[in-house]
Amino acid sequence: MPVRDILRMGDPRLLQTASPVPDSAFGSSWLSELLQAMYDTMAAANGAGLAAPQIGVSSQVVVFGSGQPNPRYPSAPVIPPTVLINPVLTRIGDGEETDWEGCLSVPGLRGQVPRWQRLRYQGFDEHRQPIDRTVDGFHARVVQHECDHLQGVLYPMRMRDFTQFGFTDVLFPALTDTADD
Ligand code: NI
Repeated sequence: MPVRDILRMGDPRLLQTASPVPDSAFGSSWLSELLQAMYDTMAAANGAGLAAPQIGVSSQVVVFGSGQPNPRYPSAPVIPPTVLINPVLTRIGDGEETDWEGCLSVPGLRGQVPRWQRLRYQGFDEHRQPIDRTVDGFHARVVQHECDHLQGVLYPMRMRDFTQFGFTDVLFPALTDTADD
């Protein structure tokens, strides 16, 4: 299965705004091949999620969740495997939470990032079935992080306190599975 190279911060393609997936692309081999490449690439890197722009495809497609614990975030709640296309995020309430994030496009680093605590996300799966979920906490954080990639935003651009930014193996020496991120 094809594992793609993941673009790293500094590549201007990560700063582009992604285009919506047109109706005609649902059910196409283009979309199924893109999703397969995204899943294989995410799995190979133990990612919590991946956005199409991270493999150089400027389309509004993200995948996240695995249905099982993630070795890069061992204490995080389990998120169902999700394909989310043409997402729309709506904040619910005014709650905010700040917590650690990493990104496969920013390897080796983690930072404290403020996010909406609760949100509704809507979009479509690969079969063009509507998705409409209200989530909070880590799930809400992952959705915001991945959908930010579709707007050309990387998590360091959301940070407010750069004293809370560092190398994963320095910040968390007890974590064992940090070699590749
Ligand atoms: Ni990321």
